[in-house]
Amino acid sequence: MADVENNKMSKITSFCKRRGFIFPSSEIYGGFAAVYDFGPLGVELANNIKYQWWKSMVYLRDDIVGLDSAIFMHPKTWEASGHISGFADPLVECKKCHTRLRADHLLEDIGVLADEKMSEAEIAKIFDKNKQKIKCPQCGKSDFTKLKKFNLLVKSNLGNFTEDWQKAPVYLRGETCQGIYLNYLNVLNSMRVKIPFGIAQIGKAFRNEITARQFIYRTREFEQMEMQYFCSPQTEMAEYEKLRQYRWQWYLNLGIKEENLKWHKHENLVFYAKEAYDIEYNFPFGFKELEGVHARGDYDLTQHSKFSGTTLDYTNSETKEKYIPHIIESSGGVGRTFLALLCDAYSEEKDRVVLKLKPSLAPYKAAVFPLLANKPELVAKAREVFEMLKTEFASYWDDRGNIGKRYYSQDEIATPFCLTIDFDTLQDNTVTLRDRDTMKQERVKIGEIRDILKSKGV
Ligand code: GAP
Repeated sequence: MADVENNKMSKITSFCKRRGFIFPSSEIYGGFAAVYDFGPLGVELANNIKYQWWKSMVYLRDDIVGLDSAIFMHPKTWEASGHISGFADPLVECKKCHTRLRADHLLEDIGVLADEKMSEAEIAKIFDKNKQKIKCPQCGKSDFTKLKKFNLLVKSNLGNFTEDWQKAPVYLRGETCQGIYLNYLNVLNSMRVKIPFGIAQIGKAFRNEITARQFIYRTREFEQMEMQYFCSPQTEMAEYEKLRQYRWQWYLNLGIKEENLKWHKHENLVFYAKEAYDIEYNFPFGFKELEGVHARGDYDLTQHSKFSGTTLDYTNSETKEKYIPHIIESSGGVGRTFLALLCDAYSEEKDRVVLKLKPSLAPYKAAVFPLLANKPELVAKAREVFEMLKTEFASYWDDRGNIGKRYYSQDEIATPFCLTIDFDTLQDNTVTLRDRDTMKQERVKIGEIRDILKSKGV
């Protein structure tokens, strides 16, 4: 089974590179661990995921507004949030090959659970107890350094021109939601919003992840899609239930198979959390977190109020009740959704590989082919169709190789429809429309292509 899983991951990894979805960062310099680049098709899929998220979170809601806060924030932000004191993973190093590893992951591999909230001493004790059974995945030896907690925040010298900037670093944000909390008051004062309301944001986050594993599942630079919903203490849990259902449905709407999703309830909550669930996806390496949906109480605004000295209370204009808003959050990742979609959609059939993404997510919505590239009249007519389509849909032009190969090439990258222009087109203005999933072909009028594609979910 493990081989089948590894096989699927390595197939997807090489497919991503071969077809321009994901490239390892800085490959010509030998690579750069845990960082990846989105290629020409990857950026299209990622943009489509982000658009679907934004549509569902902002455009379809009258109680949520968008935000794009900066990556850099006042360093006190991270003191207030608890990241400087507590945002750390347990690190050990293999004494033989010097690979740095996450102790909780090594324990998980032998079936022992170590909670992220455990102190350094607690987790070190469990690690020592199981030391003999744990093997370095790189060299197979069981000899590790003393366990240390390693803080994940990435530091920079932004705006600090001294040699010893490390003493007062500025952090690259470890999560995007802190920018939302810092702008809660600005939004409240500028947008005529009333509690309950939410702020949604998509943006980069950075974490010094110890281990680079599982392709784009865990990277050091990644993009989050986060929505923080501000509510009264009384309505927090009812809103939380609604948000959980809303987020589950979003993944189903993307076309992810429901049997590949499951809820994971956090048993050991951080002290301020009321409830926390993850939506997990059945990746080839097992069910793993896709997003977190958390009820955070009034912790975040209380902390920022305390550390900044700014009052962040809310007063209900009707009842005059005053309180610090409670927050429920939805926190997902672009990269993990991308990987889940690829794993779900990638299928190998007898003669072809097909990426069965929904048309709304596919990088190209249509591909246009002249039947023969050496017939100028066909090329000219096909160009006309292509010029018309590309103003409305991301479209692809291909005049190389035989038609069958062109179809298969588009199937692999999820293009839902191919349009072939042949000699009949010159007579009757019809083209062959070929469907990716059924491979069925039909003749359609050029003037009707746009409406037909729209009716098919493009
Ligand atoms: N504000 C809450 C928060 O950041 P998290 O569980 O640490 O919670 C939320 O992260 C989501 O961000 C994850 O479910 C995942 O989709 C994404 N994410 C977190 N760390 C990541 C990493 N190293 N690589 C890729 N995605 C990551």
